[in-house]
Parts: sequence; structure tokens; C-alpha cells
Amino acid sequence: MLIKGATLLTFPQGLTGEADVKVKGGLIQKIGRGLRSESCQTVDASGCILAPGLVEMHAHLREPGMEYKEDIASGSRAAACGGYSAVFCMPNTEPPIDNSSVAEYVFDRGEDEGLCMVLPHGAVTQGRQGKALAPMGEMGTCRAGVKGFSDDGSPVADSEIMRRAMEYARTFDALIISHSEEPSLSAGGQMNEGFNSTFLGLRGIPPESERIGVFRDICLAEKTGARLHLAHLSTAGSVDLVRDAKRRGLPVTCEVATHHFTLDDSGLLGYDTNLKMNPPLRSKEDVAALLEALADGTIDVIATDHAPHAPHEKETEFDKAEFGCVGLETSLGLVLTRLVGEGVLSLADAIAKMTVAPARLMSMERWGYLPAIEEGLAANLVIFDPDAEWTVDAAALKSRSRNTPYDGWRLRGKVRHTIFRGNLVVEDGELALVGDAVAAQARPGGNGARKKKQDERLKTTG
Ligand code: DOR
Ligand code: ZN
Repeated sequence: MLIKGATLLTFPQGLTGEADVKVKGGLIQKIGRGLRSESCQTVDASGCILAPGLVEMHAHLREPGMEYKEDIASGSRAAACGGYSAVFCMPNTEPPIDNSSVAEYVFDRGEDEGLCMVLPHGAVTQGRQGKALAPMGEMGTCRAGVKGFSDDGSPVADSEIMRRAMEYARTFDALIISHSEEPSLSAGGQMNEGFNSTFLGLRGIPPESERIGVFRDICLAEKTGARLHLAHLSTAGSVDLVRDAKRRGLPVTCEVATHHFTLDDSGLLGYDTNLKMNPPLRSKEDVAALLEALADGTIDVIATDHAPHAPHEKETEFDKAEFGCVGLETSLGLVLTRLVGEGVLSLADAIAKMTVAPARLMSMERWGYLPAIEEGLAANLVIFDPDAEWTVDAAALKSRSRNTPYDGWRLRGKVRHTIFRGNLVVEDGELALVGDAVAAQARPGGNGARKKKQDERLKTTG
């Protein structure tokens, strides 16, 4: 494959100007100007940015157990269309990813689809019940090589359990990912506590619920020396604590989800359940603090917290609706429009928070996965047009669920093509090859081929 005329964005260099990139055997073979090749597929990327494929460190892919919302096939398709080459998925599945069997199942399903890497985070506690530690070491050494641990969806409420989890994680350099929430303050809450919750008559979740959780986990990280990553931060108070922890040199990092810096709680005045998330959308002042924390580097990672839910779980009374929204297919457009377009971050800094930053935190070099554009590296790439304007259409999403708060939004910046392991998996915004066809091509002898063989064996043995 020959990618012609793209503007390269790589790390640590940033934007390095226009070049052609030749991809062969799954690898970036040559980078240069005026490259020519008669026999191969040509991808016209003029006017577009060529960047390393995006890395999502916080998504809910729902498999196993809740495939009616999403599964690894539909989640991989949504991710590829969003420009992602790797997706870390949260363990609040049914059963939860709290042992190596489930972790390997999820990892293998991702390899079978062959559209992006699917890498499971493991639960901190057995069954995500918060009572006893899950076998983190076993998950860490299994085929899925689990590196991040979280009971996301719920906090680890018991501080002693969290302390032991951090001590355990530290022994193998694992990352504890905290869903920071003080349950006695958030219990029964539906949205941010403030003027708007009072006006709507909905029970509020005070910002202090998150801030107290963040403070506790920073204290425990300081005590244990474990690496701590704070998920989906939504409040000014939380990012202040992280800023201070970083100043003191603690091993603390954090992320923001796209919805928390693009929306605030005033949008809930229409009771739209697609705006119901946990942590909730906060005040305009909190959004301003998140933007400042993105700009000054306090926030390391931009994630989506992609949380698909079925129509019957969202189209219901507000207090009965599930928390969360889908995000994999709108994140790049939102980041380019709201952060780069409005001058909050440079293009390179914004994309770094969606590529190198999460890859480094998750030690992805273990997989030979390096989000850079260099000869000899695996070709995991996204080509996007930073100037293309488009309208989000919930009905056209590749995710199995459509619970997006952005339906009808005009965005500037659109994924054109995604290349995974040298294969063009998304071409002109649409899936090029789906499922086993890609897997079989991408990894001869890999899991795609293994599954094919299994299917054939089943056919012949009936
Ligand atoms: O909004 C959310 N949705 N927050 C969470 O913590 C969990 C997630 C989900 O699993 O739906
Ligand atoms: Zn989550």
C-alpha cells in the first residue's frame, strides 16, 4: 500500500511535513517524498494528517454477557471507524473480567475480529464486589497480559482493600485505574448536584464525591508507591488534587472523557437520558477547569468511556435510565473541533493524549506496539481530514448502541482511513473488510486462522 501526500504527525517530533508512506507486510516499509509504486494499492491522503492509530484506554465493550448492548465485533468496528488501533476494555462485563480465562477470551475475540487490538483491563476485586482481591498476578501473566486493574462502574469503597490492591499491583508494575467516588455521597444520585438538579427535582451527586475518592487514592498511591491512574475526572477539585500530586512527584496520572469537556449539566434541562453519565456532567466552571488542566498537562489522556446501552435502558424515566454514552466514533471529531479548533491544545498535543500517553501508561511496547510513524514499525495508522465538516448521525454509528448525546452536531475533522497491521480496515469512513477476512489476512496462522480452522472442523464433523 502506498499512502500519498499525507502530512505526517508522529512522536516525539510532532508535525513533520508532507510525505508518502509505503506499507508492506504489515510494516511501515519506507517514508519519503515522491515514492512510486505501480503494483500496489494507493491511498490518496492529500490534505489529510497521517498519525499513529488512536489508543483508547477506557471503553466498555460489554462482551461477555451484555452483547445486546455491544460485543467485541461491533465495538471493534466502532473503534476502527473512530480511528483507533487499540482499545482497552473495562471489566464490568457478565461475568466480570476478574480471572485469566475471561481476560484471554476477550483478548482472543479481539484478535479474531482483527480490526484493532482489544486489551482487557482486569477487575481489582473478585466479581467487582469490593470484598476480596482478584487474582491480578494471574491476569498479568496470562495471554492477555493484563496491566490495568479497575472496578470501574463502581469505586473500590473499602480503603484497606484498595491499599492492598496497590501493594499487590506495585509488585508487577501494574496500573490501578480508579473510578473515584464516595458512595455514601453519590447514593441514588442522578446528575451533578447544583442549581440544575434542584430545578429539575433530581437527586444530585456532589463534586466532593469524586474529589474525596481522588484524594483517598492519591494518599494510598503515595503510601504504597503504586502507579495510580484516575479515570474520567469531571471536577475542578479533582484536577487540582492531581496537579498537586504531580508537583510532588507522585506516580499519578489521569484522564478526561470527551463528554466531560464538551457538555455541562445545563444540557439536562430537557431530561435527555443520553446526557446521564457517571460521573455526571458538571458545571460550566468544572468544564473550564478541565480545559485548563488539559492545556497545562495535568490531564494526561483523553478517553471516551464508551458506554453503550440499549434503547429500552435509555428511553425510560430519567432515574431508571442507565449511566453512560457511546463515544468511540465521535471522539476525534470532538477533540479536533473543541480542543484544537478552539485553541485549547495544539494538534500534536491533542493527538499525543490519544496515542502515546495511553500507550505509555499501558506499557504497550510489551506488544511491540509503538504509536509512531517510523520505518520498520507496525503500520497502525489513522488518516484524518482536519478540515472536513460532518454531521453526527446516531443512526449511522457502527456501535450496536446509539446512545450518543451528539446526534446532529456539526464537527470539523473526520476520520478517512484506518490502517491496522498494514490492512486498510476503514476506507473513506466505511469499513473495508470485516471480521475474519481481515483477521485471516492480518495474521496468517493467528487467531483468525485458528477460528477458521475450528469452523471448518465443526463443518466436517457436523
Ligand atoms: O457512565 C458510566 N457508564 N459510568 C460508569 O462508571 C460505568 C459506565 C457503564 O458501564 O455503563
Ligand atoms: Zn467507564
